[in-house]
Amino acid sequence: MARSRLLRVGVLASGRGSNLQAIIDASEGGKLNAAVVVVVSDKADAYALERARRHGIKGVFVDPKGCASRQAFDKALIDALTEHQVELVCLAGYMRVLTAAFINHFRHRVMNIHPALLPSFPGLHGQRQALKHGVKFSGCTVHFADEGVDTGPIIIQAVVPVFDDDSEETLAARILRYEHQIYPRAIQLYAEGRLHVRGRHVTCQGSEADRAPTEGWGYIHP
Ligand code: GAR
Repeated sequence: MARSRLLRVGVLASGRGSNLQAIIDASEGGKLNAAVVVVVSDKADAYALERARRHGIKGVFVDPKGCASRQAFDKALIDALTEHQVELVCLAGYMRVLTAAFINHFRHRVMNIHPALLPSFPGLHGQRQALKHGVKFSGCTVHFADEGVDTGPIIIQAVVPVFDDDSEETLAARILRYEHQIYPRAIQLYAEGRLHVRGRHVTCQGSEADRAPTEGWGYIHP
């Protein structure tokens, strides 16, 4: 790969960590100029921590109960990430809202993935919200995190159809398959220095090949 030094990625995860796994697999498979150097969780039993362990990646549990305030908790997160010289923070099923202090510390260096086409259906249960609303297409979004809930500048989205007989589980599975594609892709674009943020707009330098639709049901842009 052209880039000799790997971008140091820290992942925040609260749960099963399948997006974390997709990022690790892309990295270990030589598809990313990036390496996950630490996984931090607010849940001691998060399977994401077990995935980290299996891949020889440092896993850190930060106990919210051990912190006097949200500010103190986020300071502990910043310390854990800084200790590992993290350059890009990836939220992967991280179920807490970050403080402004955290966002400011890593401004435009925090990515999040959300299982809906933002700005529709932010917050919890994006797939359930989409089904309830009756939309015909949904998908997933990778964006830079800002102080709001799922409101930051959008990097990549993937679109999938919603079928009449979908349950929350079938729709979530269809979307998740694309989450696992667009998150590593967004990280790679960042690692290549091709993402530029101006206000709400993220532009991506590069070839049209990166904007091509993928096979199957979904469509990814860029
Ligand atoms: C993913 O679907 C992710 O998009 C979602 O949680 C799931 C985590 O799965 N995130 C949010 O809803 C954030 N608002 P994972 O732990 O298997 O990656």
